[in-house]
Formats: sequence, C-alpha cells, structure tokens
Amino acid sequence: MPKHFESLESFSKEELQTFLFRAAVLKGESKRGIRHCQLQGKTVGLVFEKPSTRTRVSFEAAMYGLAGQVIFLSARDTQLARSEPLKDMARVMSRYVDGMVVRTYGQDVVVELARYSTVPVINALTDLHHPCQVLSDVMTVMECRKNLDRLKIAWVGDGNNMANSWIQAASILGFELALACPEGYGPDADILERAKASAARPISLHTSAEEAVAGADVINTDVWASMGQEKEQEERLKVFSPFQVNAQLLAKAPDDVVILHCLPAHRGEEITEEVLESRQCVAFDQAENKMHMHKAILELLLTAGRENA
Ligand code: CP
Ligand code: NVA
Repeated sequence: MPKHFESLESFSKEELQTFLFRAAVLKGESKRGIRHCQLQGKTVGLVFEKPSTRTRVSFEAAMYGLAGQVIFLSARDTQLARSEPLKDMARVMSRYVDGMVVRTYGQDVVVELARYSTVPVINALTDLHHPCQVLSDVMTVMECRKNLDRLKIAWVGDGNNMANSWIQAASILGFELALACPEGYGPDADILERAKASAARPISLHTSAEEAVAGADVINTDVWASMGQEKEQEERLKVFSPFQVNAQLLAKAPDDVVILHCLPAHRGEEITEEVLESRQCVAFDQAENKMHMHKAILELLLTAGRENA
C-alpha cells in the first residue's frame, strides 16, 4: 500500500517532523548549490480542477529539482470532466506515473483516488484541507521562532480549508492555536472537536479577532471567499470586515508578531497593503518554502519502501 497525503492526519507527529526536518535540509543544500537527483526516472501527474500559481509551480519545480518530471492535467481536459469514474482514473494513472498531486473541490475525490491508486496521492488543496501549504507554513514559522511547542498561533478570518489544516497541525505538532471567525463561518466542527480531544496545547475558537491575537506569536489569515465561493463574495465582505488584519489589530498583539498569508491576498479585504508589505510579514518566504516542502514530501513518499523493493 502506498502512503497517501490526504490530510495532516495521515501522519504522526514524528512523520510531520521528518518532513519539516528534510525540507530544511533540502533548502539549505539547494542554497549551497548542491544538485539533487533522488527522483531521477520518476514522474508525477498533477491533476488540477481549480486554478493555482504557487502550488502548481512549486510542485513542478520541486520535481524537476529532484531530477524527476511532471505531467500537468487540467481536470476539465480529462475524461473526469465527462464522468469517468475516479476509481478508473486512479488505476489508469497508477500505470503511468509514480505519484499524483490533486487539487479539487471535495475531499472525497482525494479519498476515492487514494483508495484505488497504487501510487501516492497528495492533496494539493480541497474545500476541506490545504495540508501541504500548512506544513510549509509551519516550516516558515520555525525559521522565525524556535520551539514550536511554546508558540501561540492566531488564525483570523474564515474557518476554511487552511483553518482546518492549521487545527490538525496544532493538534498533532502540539502548539497553541486561537481561531477568530465570524459566527456561522467557523472551521469544520468534527475536525475541531477531534483535534481538541487529542491536543496537548489549547485550540480555541473565538468571535473576536482582538481576543485571538492577544499574546500571539503569529497571526495568520487567508481570503474571505475561497475558490468556489465567488458568488458569496459580496455577502462575505460585509460579514468579515471586523476580521481584517490591519495596523489596529496588530496593535493588540506583541510588537514582534509574525504575519502569515498563504497568498493570493486580497489587499484591503482580509489584510491591508501596509501589513502585507510590512517587515513582519513572511508571505513570500512561505511561497518559497512550498517548493522545499514539496521536495521533501515527494522524496519521502515516492521513495518510501524502496530499500525493501
Ligand atoms: N497558496 C496557494 O495554494 O496558492 P495557489 O492557489 O497559487 O497554488
Ligand atoms: N482558502 C483559499 C486558499 C487558496 C490558496 C482557497 O481555497 O481558495
């Protein structure tokens, strides 16, 4: 059975730490000009049903950076768009490629592909999770602050796919997470409940952004309307306005608070231009780290069990 990356819950704390450690090593080596060829002869298929800049390019660059290759498939150009069953797609793709990276709407699509695929399936964003993004964001936090387990991370805004993956990261890796979301726009209730039940540090849900950022080491936000929610954009602009990450909110947090945004950002909505462009904001380090983290994920999943082959 291949190891799939459906959500952060697919892994133990030690496994997530291995990804984090390996990504940092690969980043350091590539900065020193060391060339890698761990995935020579391997091919990954990217199947994307939603737009992407960072995730697509960073997975492709990661694969080429490890001497592998990629085949990009826009899902609408495949037979999936004409209702070919996912179980057939998974078994066919498994005969051609060594791994699949999938961006889609339903988490059930990733789960179904993983069920039938004989090669690793990696979640590159669904409506429910964005696990590879959050893992690379944790890497970025660790570059700014040591001792993850002593940190308080605040999530301000929509209880979306990113929020759900942050909840799982907090629970598994053991840091404090305070989420502030408007009522009715909180994270997935099951994910939150499960995570709280096994968390070593507090995971709390608030309706006040000021409350969540008090004493926080990191403030994290994301768009108010995710891909697929475009029709709700206008309504959401009204509901979310008290949740903007701006200078007034930063004044309620410690002076050296780090600002995260996975990008793309809507300046003037969830974050102001001033905060996004401030010295405290590490959004472009996050974007870079996606490539290093994706190298670590691809390397570890695509070579798993090779020593026993
Ligand atoms: N952060 C992120 O996933 O960006 P893309 O949608 O551009 O891939
Ligand atoms: N929550 C956003 C993340 C984009 C990277 C979305 O799903 O559109």
